[in-house]
Amino acid sequence: MEKDLSLTKALRREFPALAYHTYFNYGGQGPLPRVAREAILAAFGRLDELGPFSNAVNPWVADQTRLTRQVMAQELGVDWQTITLTENVTAGCNTVLWGLPWQAGDHLLMSDSEHPGVIATVLELQRRYGISISRFPASQEDGWQTLGHYLQPNTRLVVLSHVLWNTGQVIPLPALPPLGKTLILVDGAQSVGDLPLQLTELNADFYAFTGHKWWCGPAGVGGLYVHPQALEQLQPTFIGWRSVTMDGAGEPTGWQPDGRRFEVATSSIPLYAGLRAAITLHQGVGGSRYRQIRHLSQYLWEGLQSLPNYRCLLSRPPESGLICFRYHPNPSPQIHQHLVEFLEREKILIRQLASPSCVRACVHYFTLPEEIDLLLDRLRAFPPV
Ligand SMILES: Cc1ncc(COP(=O)(O)O)c(C=O)c1O
Repeated sequence: MEKDLSLTKALRREFPALAYHTYFNYGGQGPLPRVAREAILAAFGRLDELGPFSNAVNPWVADQTRLTRQVMAQELGVDWQTITLTENVTAGCNTVLWGLPWQAGDHLLMSDSEHPGVIATVLELQRRYGISISRFPASQEDGWQTLGHYLQPNTRLVVLSHVLWNTGQVIPLPALPPLGKTLILVDGAQSVGDLPLQLTELNADFYAFTGHKWWCGPAGVGGLYVHPQALEQLQPTFIGWRSVTMDGAGEPTGWQPDGRRFEVATSSIPLYAGLRAAITLHQGVGGSRYRQIRHLSQYLWEGLQSLPNYRCLLSRPPESGLICFRYHPNPSPQIHQHLVEFLEREKILIRQLASPSCVRACVHYFTLPEEIDLLLDRLRAFPPV
């Protein structure tokens, strides 16, 4: 672990939210760095100078979207043409889930640790198209190894999170059994900005993510990676002027050749500048940030081992920044709610999860060991007498 914390402390001053709290909710939303806030304001200023609606605005907007896709692509080790700009992870998952040519009787396999918005979409697909669904038990430690037993000859899609939001376990995607013609949609909500990623090495057909969690961008900008070989299997569902090419009369002539075909229409372009500024800030720190996340999550995991009233969900330190644990004497949702409220009164922010009933603390690379020490100390003091 970094011994001299002066660089980290200087960096933390760039995140105004960190002055108010001891923050452990990076998996919910990352704090916006000052540079991102300033970039958003500057971009709104530029819009005012150029229009905001004018001929001069259009090339500026096109530049902003292209640059944003390029920065995302660079972070994920893919070509920028494979990236679609979305609003959030759920929108990216919906693009894939509704875009496949479902037939009655098709099978969709997902883990038992997917996010409610994704589950709800899958259930609606089942209702409308008569597909069958099964879930495999990823929430049990190493339960991902059972995935192969649940595949069927008619499994069209596997839906799986790269980092499980409710346990912190990292799914080793390259170690999954060969899927043949079955496609895989990966929910990257908790992995992008938390793990070093080269998407081309992960065997994912679709990878949905957001900028507002571990990348600490503004809420409202996310992305979807579509493997070039999967592009033609996916039909656009929400369609608008950004999705299509047009002739001189403004008539649509076909889909955009790349990820833009899944983009729809008007967005808040200044937010794109904010996300780019946040990503650039992280890039300045370099790849050591991922090692630091793991050091810190190990530090918290080990600290929790020494508290007799708490049990971590994973039997070994998580390889991600998410640490899920329960109050062992009574792991009920009510006690966990009291625990979260008790900590929040002391300006320590963690969250509760319903299933499995637990609480989750996330560490980022700029979390301080002393913040973890404080959390452990206050956990020791719960319940207050
Ligand atoms: C695994 C997972 N998927 C999806 C989401 C929803 O994210 P968004 O609001 O960006 O769609 C979350 C957010 O908490 C998540 O943890």
